[in-house]
Parts: sequence; C-alpha cells; structure tokens
Amino acid sequence: MTHWTESDIPSLAGKTAVVTGANSGLGYYTPRALAAAGARVIMACRSESKAGQAMDALRSELTEPAIEFAPLDLASLDSVRGFATGLGDTTIDLLINNAGVMAVPYSKTADGFEMQFGTNHLGHFALTGLLLNQINDGGRIVCLASMAHRWTPGINFDDLAWEKRRYKRWQAYGDSKLANLTFMFELSRRMIAARRNILVAGAHPGYASTNLQFVAAEQRKSLIEKLVMRIGNTVIGQPAKMGALSTLYAATADVVASGDYIGPGGFQQMRGYPTKVGCRKQARDPIIGERLWSVSESLTGVRTLSD
Ligand SMILES: NC(=O)c1ccc[n+]([C@@H]2O[C@H](COP(=O)([O-])OP(=O)(O)OC[C@H]3O[C@@H](n4cnc5c(N)ncnc54)[C@H](OP(=O)(O)O)[C@@H]3O)[C@@H](O)[C@H]2O)c1
Repeated sequence: MTHWTESDIPSLAGKTAVVTGANSGLGYYTPRALAAAGARVIMACRSESKAGQAMDALRSELTEPAIEFAPLDLASLDSVRGFATGLGDTTIDLLINNAGVMAVPYSKTADGFEMQFGTNHLGHFALTGLLLNQINDGGRIVCLASMAHRWTPGINFDDLAWEKRRYKRWQAYGDSKLANLTFMFELSRRMIAARRNILVAGAHPGYASTNLQFVAAEQRKSLIEKLVMRIGNTVIGQPAKMGALSTLYAATADVVASGDYIGPGGFQQMRGYPTKVGCRKQARDPIIGERLWSVSESLTGVRTLSD
C-alpha cells in the first residue's frame, strides 16, 4: 500500500498560504512543505523573534523559500483585525488555522474570553471571517482539531468563560477543539449554501511531539507535568513532520472534499499517514454549528457571512 507523503504535494507555484502559529511544531513543518512546493507563505505568528528563528531555519533548509512574517496574536481581536488589515488586498489560496494552546491554566484573552476557547476558536473564527472575501476561488481553509474534541461532554454555551464552574483545563481544551471541528463543518455547509468554491477541511496530527505539550507545564511550573509530557512525547508521539502530513493532505490532496476530516490512519489515530477519519456526531450537528456560529459572531463582532 502506498502512503501519501510530502512528495505528493502538487506544485503550489503562484499560490499564497497563510499559516497561523507558523514558528513551531506542526506550524513549522507545514510552511516548510508548502514553501518547498512553491507557495508564498505568510507566517502569522505572535512573536517576531520566534518567527525570525523559524524563517532562518527554513532558509537554511530550502532554496529561496518565499516566506514572510506578519504579526498575529489570536488572543487579541485588535491584533486579528490588524493582521487582516495588514494583508491589504493580498488574495489567499490556503488558510491554515493551525495555532493553538493546550490545557493552560485559567486566564483570559485581551477581550476577556477564556484563553483556550478565545485563542483556538474565537481568534480563528474572527480571522477566517475577516479574510473570507480574500480567499480565491478554489481556495481551501484547514482547521486544526484534535482527538481531544471527544474529551468534553459538549460546549457549555451558558458558561463559555468558565465563570460559574471550577475550571477544568483539559476539558476546556476539548471544548476549544470541538469548537474548531464544529466551526469547520458549519463553515463548509455555509460555503456550499453560498455557492462559494472554497473547500473547508479539518485535520488532526494524532499525537505529535511538539512544544504544545510543554506550554502548560511551564506556565504551571510543574516539573512532574513536564516529565510526563517528555515521556509521552518520546514513547508515544510521532515526529512533528509526520503530524503535519494531515494538514498538508487536507490542504492539497485532490481527493479531499469539503467537510472531510483528516487524521493519521495508524493505531487509534495517534500516528501514521493521513487518511479521512471520523469524529463525534456532535461536531457535525447543524443546530450546534448554527449556535456556535451566532455566539462567535456576537462575541467577536465578525459577521462576514451573515451581512
Ligand atoms: N501536537 C499534537 O499532538 C497535537 C494534537 C492534536 C492537535 N494539535 C493541534 O495542532 C496545532 C499546532 O500545535 P503544535 O503541536 O504544533 O504546537 P506548538 O509547537 O506549541 O505550536 C503552537 C503554535 O501556536 C502559536 N500560538 C499559541 N498561542 C497563540 C496566539 N495567541 N496567537 C498566535 N499564535 C499562537 C504558538 O506560538 P508561540 O511559539 O509564540 O507560543 C506556536 O507557534 C494546535 O492547534 C493543536 O491544538 C496538536
């Protein structure tokens, strides 16, 4: 059986990609492969110095990659708006909503949203809405989700900010990833209803060894959590480059259809080569999708598809 790999990516010459969180982990290997295939890649990162280091590394690995940095902090709607304005009339072929935080201690975004829902979902919801009219015919939007979308009873619309309950940071991560997937299906339905030729797909990397597993441990100053994550990453995790294949497949493989969810085909979807995978029913529920959409519109003030 032949597996889909980076060498199956078609030429992307003349295409422009925006990748959020492009300086680390999957977000490093995604622009790397897109740029190697000829795309111009806009690296949307919150830290100019980290983006600079990633770009130096890419320049040392690839021949004259067309990569550039643009500042984006998804935990600030002002920053998201600034990023969109800064793009000017640039048109986009691939929007990869990759950035994320996992299981961090309770904190809020600049706009008062719970950090994980605010960054992982609302920041990307606003970004996608603001860029939607700049996405070219035939373009694609890829939303990074996770197996963690199953780690929650469901999005609690009555307490999105976790002000009425004891904070459960892993459940909040699950909520944010369920929201990523619910948004992906809803956006796909809306693109089809609006007769827009934009393919919307979801992707997850299985368990990939990246910095994602260490951010919360560092913020919590927990050596035990760091150790557990290090062991998990070494024993179970697959390399970030392999994890990025799901995103790259969703973004470029011609067999992908709008509404597909891509993940690794190996044991428990934790590792392996990309393939179409299933998800929990709730993520596909159009009533929940509609509710998430309208709550996200009122929280962010971004209403592109409803105006
Ligand atoms: N690794 C896995 O096993 C796994 C599994 C399932 C899903 N995922 C998903 O895959 C995506 C990428 O994760 P990764 O594993 O590659 O993690 P990573 O190495 O930690 O990279 C995350 C990226 O997101 C950026 N980011 C975080 N908060 C941001 C904000 N407020 N604004 C802009 N950028 C921000 C980080 O920037 P800084 O470097 O500045 O912090 C970093 O560039 C995430 O959506 C994650 O949920 C990963």
